[in-house]
Amino acid sequence: MRTLIKKPSLLTYIYAGNLIKNGEIVAFPTETVYGLGADATNAEAVKKIFIAKGRPQDNPLIVHLAEKKDIQKYVTEITENQQKLIDAFMPGPISIIFEKNDVICDEVTAGGKTVAIRIPENEVARKFIYYSQRPICAPSANTSKRPSPTIAQHVYDDMNTKIPLIIDGGATDIGIESTVVRVNKNYVYILRPGKINAQMILEKTGLVAMSKMDTSKIPQSPGTKYTHYKPKCDMIIIKNDVTKNMNDIYRQKTKEGKNVIIFCKKENVNKYQNKNVVVLGENSEDASKNLFTYLREYENNDLILCEYFDNGDMVDALFNRMIKSASGNLI
Ligand code: TXA
Ligand code: MG
Repeated sequence: MRTLIKKPSLLTYIYAGNLIKNGEIVAFPTETVYGLGADATNAEAVKKIFIAKGRPQDNPLIVHLAEKKDIQKYVTEITENQQKLIDAFMPGPISIIFEKNDVICDEVTAGGKTVAIRIPENEVARKFIYYSQRPICAPSANTSKRPSPTIAQHVYDDMNTKIPLIIDGGATDIGIESTVVRVNKNYVYILRPGKINAQMILEKTGLVAMSKMDTSKIPQSPGTKYTHYKPKCDMIIIKNDVTKNMNDIYRQKTKEGKNVIIFCKKENVNKYQNKNVVVLGENSEDASKNLFTYLREYENNDLILCEYFDNGDMVDALFNRMIKSASGNLI
């Protein structure tokens, strides 16, 4: 199959919409990362996503809608607390879990009774969904286990010959995936951290949100148990005694003949003079925006040494992605 990359235009949306209605897959930008979209009511189309990504079938997909008023078409009820989250954060980088009705097919939810729903803020995403006239289930548009795609070229690198169309909306804003939340009677459980954090949820809705790490009883997002975001080379996160550990490991590994690259905070770049170093960002927000992009760009080294970021609103979300990229290697 030939994979086309097209800039957003009326013609592109109409073409993409027709592909979706015909049961094909289309990659599209969102404000978080690029997604691999299909008609969430068409089991055969949904299966193609799992095949294109090499994704385990027990890992459910998020359903993307163009407008809030559409949510009720796919769920059994919207509770008061869910409504508070919808009002506060949608459209935006959040996926809320609901009890599903029968419209969304079982392949999307891995046979489960719940469905995660997200309304992207990105205009290209919303127009694409609108012209498709379907609920669009979409995982991140990477091959399973690879870093999520933040530009159309990343999608092409992973999906060339596997899908007919990539809509190229430029680089994504946020760079890591949406916050996934589940609402119980009184609490919001953060199953996957993202740009919208517990403090924002408390401030805007009055609801107490806790991360799944704080609780042992609540169900996790199935996806969190798999290997994720791995670059081709080894990676270590340096959190303690940063300058000393960074310089020591760099020296030792370089001596062993390894090509090493440092991802650092802007304020620390001068501490690594004469070393192979790039600034990942000033704070957790811009480091999040760059993380997956840099992982793909610099994975041809033998080792990535990455500083921990303790500043900004996305500390948890960024660390969650970093530690997975590094397969748990933390110093
Ligand atoms: O920002 C995003 O959310 C991106 C863009 C494309 O919208 N999508 C994305 O999809 O990250 P994916 O498939 O790569 O990750 C979805 C996560 C997985 O960890 C999955 O297990 C979880 O959401 N998930 C989906 N449906 C769920 C459900 N019903 N219950 C619990 N977790 C669910
Ligand atoms: Mg993903």
